[in-house]
Amino acid sequence: MTTTTGQDAASIVTGQPVLRTAYQQSVAAYWNAERDPVNIRLGEVDGFYHHHYGIGDYDASVLELPAGLRDQAIIAEMHRLESAQSDLLLDHFGTVSAADRLLDGGSGRGGTSFMANLRFGCEVDGVSISEAQVQFASDQAAKRGVADRVRFHYRNMLDTGLEAGSRQVIWTNETTMYVDLQELYREFARLLRGGGRYVCITGCYNDVTGGRSKAVSQIDQHYTCNIHPRSEYFRALAANDFVPITVIDLTADTIPYWELRASSSVATGIEDTFLTAYREGSFHYLLIVADYVGW
Ligand SMILES: C[S@@+](CC[C@H](N)C(=O)[O-])C[C@H]1O[C@@H](n2cnc3c(N)ncnc32)[C@H](O)[C@@H]1O
Repeated sequence: MTTTTGQDAASIVTGQPVLRTAYQQSVAAYWNAERDPVNIRLGEVDGFYHHHYGIGDYDASVLELPAGLRDQAIIAEMHRLESAQSDLLLDHFGTVSAADRLLDGGSGRGGTSFMANLRFGCEVDGVSISEAQVQFASDQAAKRGVADRVRFHYRNMLDTGLEAGSRQVIWTNETTMYVDLQELYREFARLLRGGGRYVCITGCYNDVTGGRSKAVSQIDQHYTCNIHPRSEYFRALAANDFVPITVIDLTADTIPYWELRASSSVATGIEDTFLTAYREGSFHYLLIVADYVGW
């Protein structure tokens, strides 16, 4: 297995420490300590572990089930919605062959990376600044027998050390709120082939409603993140030679997930804040697809 874990291994590759700032150290500490049932129990349903939210309507009949069955049925339904979110992301990758190499920027416990490999047969490198996640995802790759095709690295997505021009598709699934977008897209422009594609799902705040609302600030506080305004995505993409081809506002599609999660045993307490932010229009859940034209 070519997994790289540990500060030394990563520093040798990039010439930079993986965690460059006190802020990045606190983000890494958060994800290293994270054992949230809302992620673990959902992943245990079928072995695809995600750290992102869901989309689509839920089957309301799960709420009517007798006490002994209800909890697990809600968990399975929430997992179906978070997997549907990954499937939608993959639907926008364009043509990908088994010979292509992809990058999962901020790969978590690896769920979307494994789904990409299963769908396209492609190679995937996932990078995360959480060593615990890299170890977990690498163990999953070994269990699945795909460790030679799906690799996880303890590296910073702002400075991956991966080969220039080596990627057909790069995606970020709920990770861009942790980084400076100009720096991120500069690195992704370096890594993509000409005509390669970037696909992103993210929460962002609404410039039109006038800055960061109280609910958006509470989400930032809860996750130690720094949610960007919608405008910043398009400014940073354009500045780095990315041309958006598809933008989908998934806000209405993610609200059912949050409603179901609020009534589940794995609610974390942030559910009402998300629902307020989405319903008041201060926060969007967006899919952005952009082609790289800077070759
Ligand atoms: C909300 S989780 C999303 C995980 C995964 N994309 C998913 O959909 O399940 C955020 C992830 O971003 C990663 N992350 C945050 N900042 C990063 C950085 N600068 N470089 C690499 N990964 C980073 C965290 O380690 C964590 O894995």
